[in-house]
Amino acid sequence: MASIISINNLSKTYASGPPALRDVSLEIEEGEILALLGPNGAGKTTLISAICGLVRPSSGTVTVGGHDIASDFRAARSLIGLVPQEITIEPFERVINTTRFSRGLFGKPRDEAHIEKVLRSLSLWDKRNARNLELSGGMKRRVLIAKALSHEPRILFLDEPTAGVDVSLRREMWDLVRQLRDEGVTVILTTHYIQEAEEMADRIGVINRGQLLLVEDKATLIKRMGRKQLTLHLQAPIARMPETLAGYGLRLSDGGATILYEYDTQSARTGITRLLADLSEVGIFVRDLDSTQDSLEQIFLSLVEDGA
Ligand SMILES: Nc1ncnc2c1ncn2[C@@H]1O[C@H](COP(=O)(O)OP(=O)(O)OP(=O)(O)O)[C@@H](O)[C@H]1O
Ligand SMILES: [Mg+2]
Repeated sequence: MASIISINNLSKTYASGPPALRDVSLEIEEGEILALLGPNGAGKTTLISAICGLVRPSSGTVTVGGHDIASDFRAARSLIGLVPQEITIEPFERVINTTRFSRGLFGKPRDEAHIEKVLRSLSLWDKRNARNLELSGGMKRRVLIAKALSHEPRILFLDEPTAGVDVSLRREMWDLVRQLRDEGVTVILTTHYIQEAEEMADRIGVINRGQLLLVEDKATLIKRMGRKQLTLHLQAPIARMPETLAGYGLRLSDGGATILYEYDTQSARTGITRLLADLSEVGIFVRDLDSTQDSLEQIFLSLVEDGA
């Protein structure tokens, strides 16, 4: 698939503080949902702001739809809808006008049918004549999305779209994002919620301290990083692990009643068969066994801790 955004060796250091982005390179493919996952202060908003031309990079380049964001800003920006992390809407303006004006800012001709479609898709049509200040927090967030979609962008950035949004609305938002993707819109979202990334994204990028630690297909990420743990429930507890089994890196738990064995799901042989044979050799018999796999959350935490 062709990439719609190319980020090359992008770095940003604000006037004060450590670098917010360190040499980030990334190709974002047309039509994908990419989730950027990272803790507070990781650089997610800075990265989005740089792509949208709101923050001037210290070095590196970004092109959007082939347009350089520095030398060809208007063309690049017109392809982008941005839903910022902070709620920034005119309090006294009405919902429908807020959305219309935003379209106008991009020089697009009036299109009431499109505005209606956008407001309906966000369940805001009934609120179209309300003033923004009369809306709840979740509704305000949806108005931000309506604004971002008003000029029919090919790329939508959602910076923490579901912060402060209740569970049912979160589901609605996810449905909307999928629907947009089905219409061909490329979606980049940031989130702290692993579950959100896991649920929504085609690819996941993990960012920490300004560094893009990895970008991976979601399924591959879970598979590649996934380590499985096998829990062996013993027929009778043992006091300590026999020396002959040292090579397996086994751990005793549960007062000697269970043995924990970690193995790599990707390696050709897991060693389980041999382990079971070796155990019975020394008179340790297994009553039952079960296995668990790392969740994306564990993978994420271990990545971020390693990088710290
Ligand atoms: N305008 C600014 N001036 C100076 N430093 C800034 C500015 N904006 C962000 N930073 C710093 O850059 C770093 C990255 O911040 P950024 O907002 O990009 O993180 P984030 O990943 O979006 O975090 P969060 O999850 O809290 O939104 C932080 O150390 C932050 O303090
Ligand atoms: Mg942020």
